[in-house]
Amino acid sequence: MQFSIRALAPERAKTACLVLGVFKGKTPAQGELTPAARRVDRAAHGALRAVLAQGDLSGRAGSTTLLRQPHGLAAERVLLVGLGDKDEFKESSYREVIRGVATALKDLGVREATLYLIGHKLPSRDLAWNVRQATLGLREAVYVFDQLKTQKKSPPPALAEVTLALPSGSVPPPASRALREAVATAEGAALAKTLGNLPSNICTPTYLANEAKKLARQFKLRHEVLERRDMERLGMGALVSVTKGSHQPPKLIVLHYNGGAKAKKPVVLVGKGVTFDTGGISLKPGAEMDEMKYDMSGAASVLGAMRALAGMKAPVNVIAIVPAVENMPGGGASKPGDVVTTLSGQTVEILNTDAEGRLILCDALTYAERYAPEAIIDVATLTGACVIALGHVVSGLYANDAKLADALVAAGDDAWDRVWQMPLWEDYQEQLRSNFADMANIGGRPAGSVTAACFLARFVRKQRWAHLDIAGTAYKSGREKGSTGRPVPLLVRFVLRHAGGRAG
Ligand code: BES
Ligand code: MN
Ligand code: ZN
Repeated sequence: MQFSIRALAPERAKTACLVLGVFKGKTPAQGELTPAARRVDRAAHGALRAVLAQGDLSGRAGSTTLLRQPHGLAAERVLLVGLGDKDEFKESSYREVIRGVATALKDLGVREATLYLIGHKLPSRDLAWNVRQATLGLREAVYVFDQLKTQKKSPPPALAEVTLALPSGSVPPPASRALREAVATAEGAALAKTLGNLPSNICTPTYLANEAKKLARQFKLRHEVLERRDMERLGMGALVSVTKGSHQPPKLIVLHYNGGAKAKKPVVLVGKGVTFDTGGISLKPGAEMDEMKYDMSGAASVLGAMRALAGMKAPVNVIAIVPAVENMPGGGASKPGDVVTTLSGQTVEILNTDAEGRLILCDALTYAERYAPEAIIDVATLTGACVIALGHVVSGLYANDAKLADALVAAGDDAWDRVWQMPLWEDYQEQLRSNFADMANIGGRPAGSVTAACFLARFVRKQRWAHLDIAGTAYKSGREKGSTGRPVPLLVRFVLRHAGGRAG
């Protein structure tokens, strides 16, 4: 889908579908046309008001109604979309509007449309925010994952060209920048979704390594892959222990994007890449186990963020590290009670082989320290407990640095890919004590998401670090099962704002 942004008189817009907003009135007939819609209504001899008078548009955010071949306009159709109550026009309304428009345009089957929606500012957001949300929302709505179906249910969405239009003036440079940024971010999120949606018999650690290689080639990134023997030689005893029950060789993928000044320290993004999590010898119950193909969503989001940042040529330095493994039971698999030595030298008693994410991440975090980074952010579908605590709305955030935490909260708010900070207090550390090693890999049922983060914290004592638990936000279950592509928008926003990129 191609996007452009233009200032253009709406009544003169030559388009297959002109999209205009209407605020909700006391009754449908009293809906309030936005300024662009008013101009169009005048040119079309009151055709828009006539439709409202008939009560054809509820005005609820995202509701739509269509006018065909309106007289007096250059457009072939007009799609009116409800914006909801004017006094309550907020982020969720704007997103519903975009979703509603996307659905209507998809159903219409038009190839091209011109949207007058970015001009409707929210109280505390700017034009660039609207541009980013419109772009990401539309791309989200046309995403399909049907590459494994032989009978495609419906033809691919026809919508190929979208103009985000302002009724007058000229397009401010930050809005154009926001569009470029959002298009690249959408590409990155789509990559993350597809990697997440691919099943584990296709998306193996080797597959992820090859995808990283493709990115490296496409965007000229430096790239290396550590094999099992490299990890063993280095002393990554925890990482390697997770893969022992699997026939799939583990990979430690490293990608470098250097768009910033040489002297600038990189941000390191570490993504959990468990391509399938059976739980290992501490086998998971059967219900919904298929969803554990999503246990590489952290890895997918980190690769997606790299794609986004490289695609927009962001002036930043970022390194992605992805420990990729499959967690299986098997003759060689780690067993409860086994003790392993991590790359940091600390020993871990594996009391539960299903707490494998922290075992691969701890060695990846130690490895990340060698890059003397500005900050390390790891992203992981780490705990079911995080889903219990926060549900599917926000990701869990943990950080050993208050400024870093604030920056991530702000970036999440800005990207509308939100996070909520959880405590990382020392008080929780005692839950990880072990009789036989420096620590256990589980901390019992209370505060399971917190103790998982506390475990990771022991491996980044000297660096600024944050951890995002995305177990509840990376994918949806049930009928809507599928990857969300989160937290690519957050990561991109954070890196741009924090690592010296222009905030747009
Ligand atoms: N990948 C899971 C966490 C998970 C659970 C993600 C549900 C998404 C949905 C992780 O490896 C895991 O199994 N964690 C255990 C930890 C426990 C054994 C301490 C959990 O959350 O049950
Ligand atoms: Mn697990
Ligand atoms: Zn897992």
